[in-house]
Amino acid sequence: MTVQPSGAFEALLQEERRYPPPEEFKAQAIVRDPAVYEEAARDLEGFWARQAEQLDWFRRWERVLEWDPPWAKWFVGGQLNASYNCVDRHTQTWRRNKAALIWEGEPGDERVLTYQDVYRAVNRVALALKRSGVQKGDTVAIYLPMIPELPITMLACARIGAPHTVIFAGFSPDAIRDRINDCQAKVVITADAGYRRGHLIPLKDNIDAAVKDTPSVQQVVVFPRVGSDVRRVHMQPGRDVWWGDWLDAVQERECPPEPLDAEHPLYILYTSGTTGKPKGVLHTTAGYLLGTSLTHRWIFDLKDEDVYWCTADIGWVTGHSYVVYGPMANGATQVIFEGTPDYPDKDRWWRIIEKYRVTILYTAPTAIRGFMRWGVEYPRRCDLSSLRVLGTVGEPINPEAWVWYHEHIGGGRCPVVDTWWQTETGMILISPLPGLTTLKPGSATLPFPGVEPDIVDEQGQPVPVDRGGYLILRRPWPAMMRTIWGDPDRYVQQYWSRFPGNYFTGDGARRDSDGYYWLLGRVDDVLNVAGHRIGTMEVESALVSHPAVAEAAVIGISHELKGQAVAAFVTPRGGMAANEALAQELREHVAQKIGAIARPDRIFFTAELPKTRSAKIMRRLLRDIAEGRVLGDTTTLTDPTVLAEIKKQYEEQEG
Ligand code: WTA
Repeated sequence: MTVQPSGAFEALLQEERRYPPPEEFKAQAIVRDPAVYEEAARDLEGFWARQAEQLDWFRRWERVLEWDPPWAKWFVGGQLNASYNCVDRHTQTWRRNKAALIWEGEPGDERVLTYQDVYRAVNRVALALKRSGVQKGDTVAIYLPMIPELPITMLACARIGAPHTVIFAGFSPDAIRDRINDCQAKVVITADAGYRRGHLIPLKDNIDAAVKDTPSVQQVVVFPRVGSDVRRVHMQPGRDVWWGDWLDAVQERECPPEPLDAEHPLYILYTSGTTGKPKGVLHTTAGYLLGTSLTHRWIFDLKDEDVYWCTADIGWVTGHSYVVYGPMANGATQVIFEGTPDYPDKDRWWRIIEKYRVTILYTAPTAIRGFMRWGVEYPRRCDLSSLRVLGTVGEPINPEAWVWYHEHIGGGRCPVVDTWWQTETGMILISPLPGLTTLKPGSATLPFPGVEPDIVDEQGQPVPVDRGGYLILRRPWPAMMRTIWGDPDRYVQQYWSRFPGNYFTGDGARRDSDGYYWLLGRVDDVLNVAGHRIGTMEVESALVSHPAVAEAAVIGISHELKGQAVAAFVTPRGGMAANEALAQELREHVAQKIGAIARPDRIFFTAELPKTRSAKIMRRLLRDIAEGRVLGDTTTLTDPTVLAEIKKQYEEQEG
């Protein structure tokens, strides 16, 4: 592992633009007093305990934190229910008739659900789950498009204490199968199909293929998103049931929320790591709910009048924390959109903002770079004056994209909160507080109150100001992952062994003389393609499962829009023609094995791969070749001459 200073990194050191909070914004902001940082630093547990009063508890906790590194328990002895906090409690106030979800489907259909509507739906689904035999502690897999039934089903699971695992609708049958088998889901909730850029994603077909090899699955519930006029699906008698029939079978209306221990598992979300097997990140109830709701309120300066829109798919952690649990615990009104930014035209998002008077927009740098490329005429067509806070997440944002976003979307008046966090951290950990923090484009700025990051070298020693190093976290935080589902050793090994007692993020970063953090990207074998995490090993194992491939090494290469793109160096089996037809076949093969997000942009054929004497592929050297850098240390290679040959072949194919 190395933190490689790139050209972009040097440029960041030069970034001098500053954006203090506008006076009007400051005057009305939820957090105006910098004393919150002091307070949390001085008394971490006291700080979180005071904030925890914002949640509704069935039983108060006895201890705020039990910290036996790396094992954390927050709010020990407390009991609560996440669905109660996200739904029921709002129905006992004026928020009962407040819009919770303002949904727009890709074809333009609309639904608005109040908190009372969500309450009724969550109760029905919870009852139906129980009727299907789901009990407290059982896992439920959810494979749905971005429709209201997705958050509703998640909350219904939370209501009965059944951890959910949401599988992003872009994943293929193999990826679904592995996830279901890992967590032994009993019931799967899916839809007949989903819309994407005017095409259909065959969700039910994918589930049919996946559940052939998932013995734990007893029932598949199918929501008719597109309807049988558009697409007919196969329903297997005894196993498959339509959503409507499933709900009609329940007689009762109310399903009392289960009082759950603070540490009861809330969900498992699979994310890519440094091996071929995705990790089931486990989040539990109280700390997660507290961490996501507080960060959501403070970082986005959320008020009851706001119309909040996070564009992330709920299949990723951003959707879990900042569409479902954080915003709904806060009683927010939010937009949920099923489609993509450019369908039917490249102004779709701006039309949505204008139509619903969106005030807070949270999206990814890759989307912003796409909009920059399409040009300002699209946002200019629409009235974006309702916006007051802008957020980004998922990857480092280059200062140019930041400034463009600030100017052309935010009209120069909206603070931009660049929020750093991970599936594992559950909640945002490094971010501005928009009423307090002077912003620097390209920097996620400062740790959230109570969070203590540091930047260290290989030996775990803090690095000097402005030098790149490994980003670690020194203190626990309430929404932290608790373990890897079914693999506690891997949890210890992956996150807590490299710098004992500290959490290792896998990211490189530097800190400037103002204490601001500048994220430099992953330093491990995890790629970040358009804000989506992909493990190089996952793509490699997909590639080598193709009969024409002998060996494969996958790296990330810089990509103007996506930040990184997947590039694969492939050694074909003897006698296989290494041509464009094979490259195309391999791209499709990966898409089928994992999902379209993992499809390699570039495939280079080489006769050999650079290996150490212990047969480890040196991806670092392949990155050097692909980025046109001077080759790094090659002394550990079995045969350093291989490299010159690979470089030659690469340059030929690169044209
Ligand atoms: C990257 C997404 C720079 C980082 C919430 C991290 C970021 C990985 C930022 C986690 C940011 C996320 N600036 N890099 N603001 N936010 N990242 O698990 O490399 O999908 O480790 O969680 O995304 O990706 P994940």
